[in-house]
Amino acid sequence: MEPYAFKGRHIIDTADLGTTEIQHIIEVCDRIQAMGSEAQNLCKGKILGTLFWEPSTRTRLSFEAAMFRLGGNVLGFSEAGSTSVSKGETLADTIKTIAIYTDIMAMRHPLEGSALAASQFSNVPVINGGDGAHLHPTQTLGDIYTLVKEKKDLNGLKVGFLGDLLFGRTVHTLVRLLARFGVEMHFFAPEGLHMPEYVKDSLKEQGANFKEHGEMNGALAELDALYVTRLQKERFFSEEEYLRKRNSYSVNKEMLAQAKDDILILHPLPRNEEIHPEVDSLPNAGYFRQAAYGLQMRMALISLCLGVFE
Ligand code: CP
Repeated sequence: MEPYAFKGRHIIDTADLGTTEIQHIIEVCDRIQAMGSEAQNLCKGKILGTLFWEPSTRTRLSFEAAMFRLGGNVLGFSEAGSTSVSKGETLADTIKTIAIYTDIMAMRHPLEGSALAASQFSNVPVINGGDGAHLHPTQTLGDIYTLVKEKKDLNGLKVGFLGDLLFGRTVHTLVRLLARFGVEMHFFAPEGLHMPEYVKDSLKEQGANFKEHGEMNGALAELDALYVTRLQKERFFSEEEYLRKRNSYSVNKEMLAQAKDDILILHPLPRNEEIHPEVDSLPNAGYFRQAAYGLQMRMALISLCLGVFE
């Protein structure tokens, strides 16, 4: 039996998780789903704090739904302006206080490194729900779970990444994790929005199999999955620059005619124009199933960090 040690642990970066630990988390996801309504007793009496200094639909609400489905309760904020942060309270004091009221917390903050900093002031587990353009580990773990459920074997799988690869924190975390599972990766980005050098350096250190492409052309036909991201408008330096790049790529039925019949289209959401709604009705459209797997992953992470499962 592996000595997994999740109880009381912070989830800040997937790099902190061993490969067997990630496989274990996936097994726990499956175990919880197999429990059906019995999962409603797993976290009875426990409280999750959701601290969101940045907007979110999926991450915050799926954390909350996850805790409710595990039988626990939730408190928190989605507008820092409604808390004493607006009176100048520090992150440290906010975290120390909320740790008194809760058993576990999930947070999103615009500053890179904020979740790590928060974890140093908290005696309950802190789960990073996104820190600036840096990391989004629960999205990544949900994405891995999606690929495992939909494509079974990750080794040798060919996954394309299309979109804003410069600011997209989801892809920065995901590619480094997929490298560990032997996934072959292909990057397609508008000019000026390519994968940052530090991410590519990290992939090279891992011995990852990846390639950057100027155009999609023939590469699309080889892919088993295509992970699409939106332009991160809020992280652009100017509106003009954003408008210049907007609409520079779009996944639609015409484009998918050149792809494998069973190509899986993923997107962390929210989307703008980068996936046409006509794709939604195709079995290839995996992005809402991906959101459902993300909820299941967060149920597993909350349970593990609270010590419900070893
Ligand atoms: N995928 C994701 O992080 O979505 P939200 O920004 O809505 O939480």
